[in-house]
Amino acid sequence: MLHLFIIMENETYKEFLQFRKKLCVLNMEAMQYYERFGLVINNKVVKTPLAIASMAGCVDAGYVLKRAAHIGAAFIGGYSIDQPTMDAGREMAAAGRTEFIYDDPLEELKKQVALLSATDIQAGLNLRGSTPASYAAVADSIGDSVVYEIDAHCRQEPMIRAGCGEFYLRNHGALVSTIEALKSHDVTVSVKMRAGVAPDDRVLAKKIWKAGADILHVDLMDHGYQKIRQIRNSCPLLIIANNSINTFERMKDMFSHGADMVSLARHSDERTLAGLDAAITRYAGEHGWYNSPKQLCRGGDVRSLAFCCMPVKSCPLIPTLEKIGISRDEYIALKMDSVSGTPLDQGKHTCFGSLAWCCKDSSPCMFRDMTIRQAGMESREYMIHKRELSEKIMHRLFDTEKNDESC
Ligand SMILES: Cc1cc2nc3c(=O)[nH]c(=O)nc-3n(C[C@H](O)[C@H](O)[C@H](O)COP(=O)(O)O)c2cc1C
Ligand code: SF4
Ligand code: SF4
Repeated sequence: MLHLFIIMENETYKEFLQFRKKLCVLNMEAMQYYERFGLVINNKVVKTPLAIASMAGCVDAGYVLKRAAHIGAAFIGGYSIDQPTMDAGREMAAAGRTEFIYDDPLEELKKQVALLSATDIQAGLNLRGSTPASYAAVADSIGDSVVYEIDAHCRQEPMIRAGCGEFYLRNHGALVSTIEALKSHDVTVSVKMRAGVAPDDRVLAKKIWKAGADILHVDLMDHGYQKIRQIRNSCPLLIIANNSINTFERMKDMFSHGADMVSLARHSDERTLAGLDAAITRYAGEHGWYNSPKQLCRGGDVRSLAFCCMPVKSCPLIPTLEKIGISRDEYIALKMDSVSGTPLDQGKHTCFGSLAWCCKDSSPCMFRDMTIRQAGMESREYMIHKRELSEKIMHRLFDTEKNDESC
């Protein structure tokens, strides 16, 4: 119950407050998942940080239902939703690609959503449209039970010509207008993008965040976890890492550099999904924070400030603080204020007099471990409190940036 207890302590967090209101209607299973992963999408607790990514002509509700036991979310589609993209889909099908072809895509989408509505999976619709109005019309008709995923990923020429897929990665104005059109219907929005297409993925991630999207679903191609770290350091969106994440080792690499979830498409078979689900569930049970970052000096993303020392020596912390634009004094005050009144606010026998400055559980340290024991905590609880600290740091960094009109 520790995680729930922490949430109730954080009365200042708007979203925690809103979510707390909903806790009373959560069933026990959802509470257990929430304690384990702390993941919520579209007001639904996500049971495991694993998703199925869309494959046109293949991933529909039937495909997802067969794998439902081992996933937290699924993006069905892609579905073409207006005349230009439907024509593009037909052209692609004629050239031999598998596609979902429907004369009335809206009717089909409603059927698919109905099939998924009784499950505990958060459903997403991967959509291909050529105007913001086309996406808005689907949201207007289907409502807010699903996530709307803009396909800014497809690299097939007919789809790009129709003004969809990769077109959005080179025409950011069109992407921003589409996100805004969906958000005007108060729905949860994901953008599925391919890394390395836009001139600068960091700039793109910031634009997507500031336009109001909720999720960034990134096909990394062959860019690896360094790209996830870049994007994590650029925006506070929920990040889903994708591409060949078929082993626990690769999944862990994504989580320890900033991903909140991972998704699988080609290898989304039951066996692979079940193995990854079991492994991450076990890891979360043992370590508390399933996607804890590496220490900053070992290549960790910005969340790893939660594990950083006082700024007293020459190390990667100093240039990082300069890059994110906070002074050493602000950093010290931010961490001390954030742990005030929490179990991390103790540790006079540690290097800097407080667990606020202490390292990750994977770095052996008898002084930290002794303090944790004396505080009546287990190591996994220490890590859950570190997660809380990192969330406060992230709020501070990105709230300030969002309010900064010059950005
Ligand atoms: C046959 C096929 C169809 C795909 N269709 C779509 C699509 O409609 N929309 C989309 O965003 N991604 C689509 N993708 C991309 C996948 O969702 C995923 O990003 C990619 O396959 C890499 O992930 P993986 O290594 O887990 O397969 C498709 C991939 C394949 C193989
Ligand atoms: S402050 Fe400590 S943990 Fe952070 S980068 Fe420097 S040496 Fe590493
Ligand atoms: S007491 Fe141990 S865990 Fe804490 S900062 Fe020092 S070395 Fe790191």
